[in-house]
Amino acid sequence: MSEQSSAPAAAGASPRSNAPVADRATEDFVQVIDVVKKFGETVAVRNVSLSVRKGELFALLGSSGCGKSTLLRMLAGFEPVTSGKILIDGEDLAQLPPYRRPVNMMFQSYALFPHMTVEANVAFGLKQEGVPKAEIKERVQAVLDLVQMSRFAKRKPHQLSGGQQQRVALARSLVKRPKLLLLDEPMSALDKQIRQRTQIELVNILDKVGVTCIMVTHDQEEAMTMASRLAVMSEGQIVQLGTPSEVYEYPNTRFSAEFIGSTNLFDGNVVEDEPDHVFVECAELPVRLYVNHGITGPLGMPVTISVRPERIALTRKPPEGAFNWGHGVVKNIAYMGGYSLYHVKLDSGKTVIANVSSLALSEIDSPTWDDEVYVRWSASAGVVLTS
Ligand SMILES: Nc1ncnc2c1ncn2[C@@H]1O[C@H](COP(=O)(O)OP(=O)(O)O)[C@@H](O)[C@H]1O
Ligand SMILES: [Mg+2]
Repeated sequence: MSEQSSAPAAAGASPRSNAPVADRATEDFVQVIDVVKKFGETVAVRNVSLSVRKGELFALLGSSGCGKSTLLRMLAGFEPVTSGKILIDGEDLAQLPPYRRPVNMMFQSYALFPHMTVEANVAFGLKQEGVPKAEIKERVQAVLDLVQMSRFAKRKPHQLSGGQQQRVALARSLVKRPKLLLLDEPMSALDKQIRQRTQIELVNILDKVGVTCIMVTHDQEEAMTMASRLAVMSEGQIVQLGTPSEVYEYPNTRFSAEFIGSTNLFDGNVVEDEPDHVFVECAELPVRLYVNHGITGPLGMPVTISVRPERIALTRKPPEGAFNWGHGVVKNIAYMGGYSLYHVKLDSGKTVIANVSSLALSEIDSPTWDDEVYVRWSASAGVVLTS
């Protein structure tokens, strides 16, 4: 979205040039330039531009049907673009014959051959390529060691757990030494319990190999845990692109704020706008909202303030300040171990969710259902969203 500057002006002049663009190649290893994909009337991908650096693990994140897999399939070369361009290491993917495309995709279903052993599954692609037998043996062994599956080399896929099958699928992709590895929902076939551990293992393996990787997921926790940067997609477009913490701390739209983690949204109107702060009047709160950064826009402009649950404190006594608090009643408590999620119904009827640590709760004598409480937050807790 914000990376159009990477579109090379000279690309139109010499479309078939295969000369590597050395310095840009490391900086923008993968370049997606204004790519559109239409299926008849359906526009699955709308003018997407993004760059991925060498060695990076980049995540495409969005809910079902937003165009993630379509974008990944175009990166794999399985699907032609309707318009726009994809460059990998400076080369136009559309100009490369399939066997020269430096890309490998690991499928959601793993697509292992059921009748072949682990070893044979991993060796299969290299055999197809006519790689000498001794080299195949060596490469298969090395990659099975890497994913810690050497012990299971003689087993068939049905004799493996989901996590083990995934590692075989990964080995099969990596053994071909792609410059770009594509992962479509790599954890979706795994149980919740082993998913978290597998996410970290997978990152470690990819790190060791140093391969550039683009993964697709609808799971924001997975993207946050694994990716160095991520793009939030909605209806075929990139809504926001950044590191996990940038997107979490500074969502640029209501959509991003709600999609990445949970949040409290207060709709209101700007009543004072200075370079270093903004006051917002919100019908659902007894006092104004105060945010310690300015925005650009006219007075009266409608805005939404996002405040994350962990930024909201609970008190029994009325807060002293003239902004950023509300009064209500505890309607629900979800005990999560080290913290609890309190649902507080304000006098206005709005529900605010506060994530309160067990320690903080003990200091206010743990409010319970139907207790009267105040919620409050600091001037640095809110983010102003204008769209
Ligand atoms: N081969 C196809 N033919 C027609 N429509 C398709 C095809 N593939 C995907 N679509 C449509 O494109 C949109 C995006 O799909 P997809 O990329 O699979 O989404 P995601 O992976 O984010 O769930 C959807 O509306 C889907 O129905
Ligand atoms: Mg998909």
